[in-house]
Amino acid sequence: MTRFEIQNTVALVTGTNKPRGIGRAIVEELLAAGAAKVYATARSKAQLQDLVDRHGDRVVAIELDVTDPASIRAAVVAAPDVALLVNNSGLAVMADGLGDVDGARREMDVNYFGPMQLTNAFAPVLAQNGGGAVVNTLSIASHVNFATLVTYSASKAAAHSLTMAQRRELAAQGTRVIGVYPGPIDTEMAKDVPMEKVPADTVGRALVEALRNGVEDVFPDPTAQGLYGQWRDDPKAVERAMASAS
Ligand SMILES: NC(=O)c1ccc[n+]([C@@H]2O[C@H](COP(=O)([O-])OP(=O)(O)OC[C@H]3O[C@@H](n4cnc5c(N)ncnc54)[C@H](OP(=O)(O)O)[C@@H]3O)[C@@H](O)[C@H]2O)c1
Repeated sequence: MTRFEIQNTVALVTGTNKPRGIGRAIVEELLAAGAAKVYATARSKAQLQDLVDRHGDRVVAIELDVTDPASIRAAVVAAPDVALLVNNSGLAVMADGLGDVDGARREMDVNYFGPMQLTNAFAPVLAQNGGGAVVNTLSIASHVNFATLVTYSASKAAAHSLTMAQRRELAAQGTRVIGVYPGPIDTEMAKDVPMEKVPADTVGRALVEALRNGVEDVFPDPTAQGLYGQWRDDPKAVERAMASAS
């Protein structure tokens, strides 16, 4: 993949309201790397005021629910200069056994249909702005099904598959598509995950490095790197290990 120039770019990041969240960390790292402007989005714009206060007109707060087509259409109108779309919003419902259909539908809405609708809506904008890039915040759970995050893992696997399609289809307009596959990160989402975690800025920094170096699959932390390495060598061994650990 060709390198993406962050300096002076204009980005839009979804789900940036949580102070310890990955979306917020991505906003901070993109600005530190020289992005001209970041549209920081969230379902509640009021929760973005501190970001605006800190960065002035380099941060533009936009209200955006990634499951709401009207909200997505309004974001496209409000942000016509976007060259880097970061689909970060996510939902994890703790679910074991065979999973729960209602929770699974809500996860699919946010984790799969969300990035799909956003990317479809912003693809023409990215094309107009030189091609740009789409980043999908996926998970190591895209490759490995976790026994307490059964349907979340499935939603992230679906989004991983869609990421490959987006990469193939958007190549013609010069849009790069990057998948980020974190392991456990110390955010509100993972507060009940009993695994060693790293802070969210690990993900933000890894993404910036990946954009700079033209890397399209990003494994930001040691757990993700280790599990992905095992999965690449022997996926059935990882599946059996996850089954015996549950
Ligand atoms: N933490 C981890 O261990 C981990 C590991 C791998 C991947 N990830 C992925 O990383 C991304 C960020 O997660 P995080 O750990 O930073 O979790 P988080 O702190 O819970 O943040 C999730 C964000 O998604 C937003 N969101 C949820 N539903 C939305 C909707 N319908 N429209 C717009 N935004 C919505 C939330 O906003 P509200 O406050 O309004 O709900 C929040 O800003 C997610 O895609 C997650 O799956 C996380």
